[in-house]
Amino acid sequence: MFTSAVVKRPCSNLVNGIRSTNLGVPDFARACRQHDTYIAALEACGLSVTVLAPDEGFADSVFIEDTCLVTNECTVITRPGHPARRGETRSVAQAMVRFNRPVIEITAPGTLDAGDVMRVDHHFYVGLSDRTNAEGIGQLAQILGPFGYTVSAIALTSVLHLKTGVSYLENNCMLAWGEFVSHPEFAGFTILAVDDDEAYAANSVWINDRVLVPEGFEKTRALIAAHGYDTLAVDVSEFQKLDGGLSCLSLRF
Ligand code: GLY
Repeated sequence: MFTSAVVKRPCSNLVNGIRSTNLGVPDFARACRQHDTYIAALEACGLSVTVLAPDEGFADSVFIEDTCLVTNECTVITRPGHPARRGETRSVAQAMVRFNRPVIEITAPGTLDAGDVMRVDHHFYVGLSDRTNAEGIGQLAQILGPFGYTVSAIALTSVLHLKTGVSYLENNCMLAWGEFVSHPEFAGFTILAVDDDEAYAANSVWINDRVLVPEGFEKTRALIAAHGYDTLAVDVSEFQKLDGGLSCLSLRF
């Protein structure tokens, strides 16, 4: 169960965020309203939400998940793989001190975006991607190993981050799209396969037996609900324009 979440408010420079989609430039005012609703959804799932101030220097800094990974034993500050995002970690590292865990940093030449990190109990699957390299994954394994966690790499072929295409919904159940539907590493899990026309919804978020699903992806929402989950739809269309999913917008622990 999670008790806490940390989010970072969108900055007005969001409109200059990194994007590979053809969905257009995000509307900043609308993004702020969607962020308010997202925070309310986290609170509705029982989380105490810490809201960090916007970081105008970094257009993508609202996607705080990429910068940090929190376990009961430590906080890992990542080293984002895109150079334009690397400085996002400074303010996040300062803010995370309040949670009373040792703060450990991924260092050069390692790179790691925590959007590539998917936890399944005491194991962490980590996407080997354009953003996360083998050195970064090795460092994460060194950091988490002493606390009893294991780490393995999953080479990505078509998605930005591992969790762009697969989400663990607890109960041995995975929501998966594309290359992850039949992935041998996930053969032991119940796979809920997301249709191609709803690929974006493969990034849904389990929080305390509820699942946040992006608004407008009704087939995926119905699929998740049919497996016994209480779902909550949240409109994150302005963040989708920057390749950001629901999970990217928070740390949950
Ligand atoms: N726009 C989010 C990212 O590329 O990391």
